[in-house]
Amino acid sequence: MSGQRVCVEDFEKEAKKVLPKAVYDYYRSGADEQNTLADNVAAFKRYRLLPQTLYIISCIHLIISFLTSPLILPLYCVGSTGIDFMRYPDGGQATGRSCRAVGTGMMLSSWATSTIEEVMSAMTASPGGVLWLQLYIYKDRELTLSLVHRAEEAGYKAIFVTVDTPYLGRRWDDMRNRFKLPSHLSMSNFSSASLAFSEGNYGNDSGLAVYVAKAIDPTLCWDDITWLKKHTHLPVIVKGVLNGEDAVQAVNYGVDGILVSNHGARQLDGVPATLDVLEEVVKAVQGRCDVYLDGGVRRGTDVLKALALGAKAVFIGRPVLWGLACQGQQGVTEVLELIKEELRLAMALSGCRSVSEVSRSLVRRLEFTSRM
Ligand SMILES: Cc1cc2nc3c(=O)[nH]c(=O)nc-3n(C[C@H](O)[C@H](O)[C@H](O)COP(=O)(O)O)c2cc1C
Repeated sequence: MSGQRVCVEDFEKEAKKVLPKAVYDYYRSGADEQNTLADNVAAFKRYRLLPQTLYIISCIHLIISFLTSPLILPLYCVGSTGIDFMRYPDGGQATGRSCRAVGTGMMLSSWATSTIEEVMSAMTASPGGVLWLQLYIYKDRELTLSLVHRAEEAGYKAIFVTVDTPYLGRRWDDMRNRFKLPSHLSMSNFSSASLAFSEGNYGNDSGLAVYVAKAIDPTLCWDDITWLKKHTHLPVIVKGVLNGEDAVQAVNYGVDGILVSNHGARQLDGVPATLDVLEEVVKAVQGRCDVYLDGGVRRGTDVLKALALGAKAVFIGRPVLWGLACQGQQGVTEVLELIKEELRLAMALSGCRSVSEVSRSLVRRLEFTSRM
């Protein structure tokens, strides 16, 4: 690993230097004033770790079973970040290969600039790759199902259906930059230019907001989870739940998992940090399905805190993009290895020899203080 890159922020600083401004802004930014964006990260600092000492820590086990897949490192799987490969057009394949090498899985966005099949074939070039598809529900339901069936055929292991994007959040930087895809890229999973986000006609605003308003179904409701489950044999996880009431609904509609997510703070500014609602969701679910978390995870200690509060696994989004921007596949591998080693050390120093030994008593929430 490069001498200077000792934490995720080092990758971000370097990425900022090499990415075109509009691309960096697209990756980094959140919605509106970005209060939730900052809070996603700050929330982890509101919890302190209470280690147990004098345990025999000679070996740390990070293996757990993620849905049906035994992963060597399922604790920070890669979040879906559509249109993510603007510096490396085959970034989807590079990210997939990194995940496989490190022993974790990858969730591919419907909007990726590599296809469902391309990423799978890069990942299964040698055994061990696990892929899940992030799904947006389009107004065109046949098209939506065609993505699901392509994922099934290619060997994907689950569908993460995003439920927080009936419309796109107001991302001021993208609006100011009139964000569009560079001309050499498109959302590769779609054959028509209008759905691939590659035609020119997206007005003077964020092109993506116009795309979502045209294509994505804003009438999505719980019955659509039933509809989706009827059409796929893959496990269905809802991505974007932020409270206990919705979590109970999700369980009642038979989901296989819940991803506590606020879309990396890119949708509704002002919603809570995901870590702050994790316990509410875990309590509401009462073990009836797995609960995962994404949003603001930047360190091994963040992963540990989320696990202690009841997440089965966590996902990271932006850190992967910073790694990719710095050094392609090698950069992503470095980011994943960095957080993995941080987690291993944090577990060792906390007296946890395996994930099953991480318990609620490991973390304590600080009382409110303005000087954190
Ligand atoms: C550049 C970018 C693109 C994203 N694209 C998608 C997407 O296509 N679908 C989706 O469900 N979430 C998308 N997300 C949200 C991520 O899946 C994930 O929820 C979020 O990035 C996690 O927060 P983090 O970036 O703080 O780790 C995107 C996030 C970023 C930063």
